[in-house]
Amino acid sequence: MISKELAKAREYEASQEASVKDEDRPVCHFTARTGWLNDPNGLSFYDGTYHLFYQYHPYSTYWGPMHWGHAISRDLIRWKYLPAAMAPDTEYDKAGCFSGSAVTLADGRHMLIYTGCGDSSEDPTGKGRWLQTQNLAILESDGEYHKYEGNPVISKEDLPEDADPYEFRDPYIWKASDGTYRALAACGRTETSEGGTYLLMYSSDDGIHWGSGKVFFEDERKIGVMWECPNFFTLGKKHILIASPMDMQAEEGEAVGSIRFPQGNNVCCITGRYDEKSETFIPDKDRAGRFRYDPVDAGLDFYAPQVLTMNDGRKVMIGWMQDPRTGNTESNGRRESRFFGQMSIPRELSLKGDRLIQWPVSELEAYRTDRDVWKGLELAPIWIRIPGISGRCKDISLDIKTRRKCKGAGMRFAADENHYTELWYDPEKSVITIDRSHSGLVESIPARRTIKVSDRRGRLSLRIILDKWSAEIFINDGEQTMSLTFYTDLSAEEIRFRAEGEALMDMTAYTLAESE
Ligand code: FRU
Repeated sequence: MISKELAKAREYEASQEASVKDEDRPVCHFTARTGWLNDPNGLSFYDGTYHLFYQYHPYSTYWGPMHWGHAISRDLIRWKYLPAAMAPDTEYDKAGCFSGSAVTLADGRHMLIYTGCGDSSEDPTGKGRWLQTQNLAILESDGEYHKYEGNPVISKEDLPEDADPYEFRDPYIWKASDGTYRALAACGRTETSEGGTYLLMYSSDDGIHWGSGKVFFEDERKIGVMWECPNFFTLGKKHILIASPMDMQAEEGEAVGSIRFPQGNNVCCITGRYDEKSETFIPDKDRAGRFRYDPVDAGLDFYAPQVLTMNDGRKVMIGWMQDPRTGNTESNGRRESRFFGQMSIPRELSLKGDRLIQWPVSELEAYRTDRDVWKGLELAPIWIRIPGISGRCKDISLDIKTRRKCKGAGMRFAADENHYTELWYDPEKSVITIDRSHSGLVESIPARRTIKVSDRRGRLSLRIILDKWSAEIFINDGEQTMSLTFYTDLSAEEIRFRAEGEALMDMTAYTLAESE
């Protein structure tokens, strides 16, 4: 038996199916079955297949009472939609089933842990925020995820005294080496306390019964107001925390005019060590002895990623490729579309020193066709096209070598006579700027970003995944990434290159295909 809310959502999404054709979607990026999508949830390998759940409002292309959408895949690139897994249908999650994660229980059942948004009448701030608790849904033999009758399993009684139960969410679960379970959840601190975020760790022997929380990490630097969607995992010998602080202040970058973090919502990576005894995270420190944190993606649209361990051990991250600040604005793409929002390409994670390296999973390569290779192209001071290089679904690798006195080199894509999105490299300052101001955007949302890249004496390597309405740019072998969306009409498919001064370029370009 499923609830009437879930039955209604399933009926609705099935009724919309015929109005979205495959070719209306990006070729290699996951989009909602219908309606609105935000965070990836419950990423896991279960029963021989990968599962992706997602924050989902099927009924419109705007954020609304959150359901969990569901899809499965064997390669993390092409997904098959399954019926929505959860709807807000109980007292404790009536306002929404917020983000969470998944694990396999000792008895082999798949289990989801998620945040329920319940009653708002008692929010002491009068802002009508929902009481947030952590809840379980377990896959039973009828193929349905049943909400556990003992829900909520973690609630305000399980919080430190100054924690804010109205900002308490996004549990990330894992199995410890001894077979017991841990979950990390984000929690704000009340306005009467000093503010800032706690990441709280909960333990359970069976995954069902949870004890009270321990402060696992505390943001004493007060970065943003709330670190949403924490992830905790290992890469080699290091422990890594990735979380998404909201409402940060902007931070300058190392080069003049560049920024490290823009104001607003961002994703941070912190490397460190896990102390088994105290069950706390000891982050690596900067020169001033404070915890060090680095941006995960320096583009315009990347938030709330979730990290999955693949069945062969690779750590892979999928993010919501949309800035939450601009997600609910009336964007060009939404007007004709039945769905809005997309996930990033799954990115394999590794470390180089203490630096997080991201690279598209190798599974993407199976979808590449039509290889074009160019060596030693001399770029000109005007925007030129290169024979055979055009389109909106491309996987392009570039090596740019600028000579002394070269003022810059770059490319424009999704271009026609009036539109383009631009990427420009300034070798003197070692900065890259992305700019979508001319993509057809009509709203005054952030459109440009300049970041410092490593100084490789005028050389730059890029891999650009273009997929209809987005670009993911992997800089210098994945040392940095910039992701952005743009809703330029699909007929704008020119790609052009230019340099101011002497620059040579090697390029390998593929088309990303509709089918494998
Ligand atoms: C992050 C987030 C989460 C929350 C979910 C609600 O984008 O705000 O903290 O669980 O989205 O949709």
